[in-house]
Amino acid sequence: MNIDMLTTAVYIVAALMFILSLAGLSKHETSRSGLTFGIAGMALALVATIASLALNSWGSTQSTIGLSLLVVVVLIGAGIGLWRARVVAMTGMPELIALLHSFVGLAAVLVGWNGALDSHDVPADFIGIHHGEVFIGVFIGAVTFTGSIVAFLKLSARIPSSPLMLPGKNLLNVGALLGFVGLTVWYIITPDIWLLVAVTVLALLLGWHLVASIGGGDMPVVVSMLNSYSGWAAAAAGFLLNNDLLIVTGALVGSSGAYLSYIMCKAMNRSFISVIAGGFGIPKPAAPGEEDEGEIHETDAASVAELLKAADTVIITPGYGMAVAQAQYPVAELTQRLIAKGVTVRFGIHPVAGRLPGHMNVLLAEAKVPYDIVLEMDEVNDDFASTAVVLVIGANDTVNPAAAEDPGSPIAGMPVLHVWEANTVVVFKRSMSSGYAGVQNPLFFRDNALMLFGDAKDRVEDIIKAL
Ligand code: TAP
Repeated sequence: MNIDMLTTAVYIVAALMFILSLAGLSKHETSRSGLTFGIAGMALALVATIASLALNSWGSTQSTIGLSLLVVVVLIGAGIGLWRARVVAMTGMPELIALLHSFVGLAAVLVGWNGALDSHDVPADFIGIHHGEVFIGVFIGAVTFTGSIVAFLKLSARIPSSPLMLPGKNLLNVGALLGFVGLTVWYIITPDIWLLVAVTVLALLLGWHLVASIGGGDMPVVVSMLNSYSGWAAAAAGFLLNNDLLIVTGALVGSSGAYLSYIMCKAMNRSFISVIAGGFGIPKPAAPGEEDEGEIHETDAASVAELLKAADTVIITPGYGMAVAQAQYPVAELTQRLIAKGVTVRFGIHPVAGRLPGHMNVLLAEAKVPYDIVLEMDEVNDDFASTAVVLVIGANDTVNPAAAEDPGSPIAGMPVLHVWEANTVVVFKRSMSSGYAGVQNPLFFRDNALMLFGDAKDRVEDIIKAL
């Protein structure tokens, strides 16, 4: 067996491991083994790629320099990756993921440019296809790069999460797509480097505009959509580098990301096309502060403890604020105490609660809350009306009745947890500020809603003491 055949064999094993990884990651119980398969597959892929390069060009000075550089950058990259993954807080994960997607996009742009500048070895019969590959790779990569940077800036609150509403924004997007098609055809006929410069700038602007035009409430879909784009960018780079594994892996990431975006759009009652087209057809949100707010009813930890003592059923709906406060541990302790007192306690998890898919499930699993009392939104939504007390812990948009009742709301139509149907709702938050989508929540002004202000962790600990 020669080196290339051996490399291909290892690539097939690595690709199978990536498929097993995706299958494992689709369920709580198997997610750890899914991660292990992913890590093992990537390690195999890296070793096989570097080893085949080394063995194929053994002895030449150029290759020794090239390989040494490769090993050094892999070690530096792995070191930075390990360090960031260890220190990142759970609440910072989405922006870290967005930033990592931007690197994939940038890599695809650089591979595309390299393919354009170094195309003298490409046979004449294939040069048109090669030029097409260069353009597609650079275009998808550049859209992914700036789109991910904007997502990073929005998710880390460095820029406002509200949508950018340029006049004629849909025409701008369509114009950019048509411009890309025209430039590609032109480049295949006359490969002038300035056309590549033009398409790079066009795609960088389009990526920026597409994501900037999407409002905070739709950011979950944007993150998984950029995940998909980064996969297609990697696949395009795979074609240029003639690397089968990169093509397969890119296609796996691209298609699974697209499917996840589709599922999330369905969960949020959003049109997939409108979100990937940069908010096409999504109305301009109302300016904040237009709502008739009314009065709120403030409460304290001791009163909530009394309320819980008298309750027979409790549903806890956590949100991003639970992650910020790291309140999952006292919440798990409170749950245990209540169950020990004979109260039926369950959790209702909204599909986009927090800042990344499964955020709440991960936190609750970390605090050892049993899986069987952690229910999806659809499993619990009909039960609120027969529930004595609902504890809304650091959630806001995901429990906003305006989504179900106000067709003019920017989050109208997004399914929400119907917490307001319970007998009493206790809302844990620090102030009256709005949630991620930037819209006011009429729940806080309802007669059956009690506001418990302060850090969620401190307040839950106060309740445990009072119990
Ligand atoms: P949000 O609507 O963002 O509300 C979080 C609430 O937590 C805020 O009202 C905040 O109010 C409160 N809070 C923050 N820190 C707190 C603390 N230390 N103690 C107590 N309360 C605290 O959260 P949600 O209901 O989970 O909704 C998620 C939102 O994020 C949705 O709009 C969703 O579309 C978006 N999003 C989701 C994802 C994914 S994939 N899940 C990704 C990106 C964006 P105070 O500031 O007054 O305390």
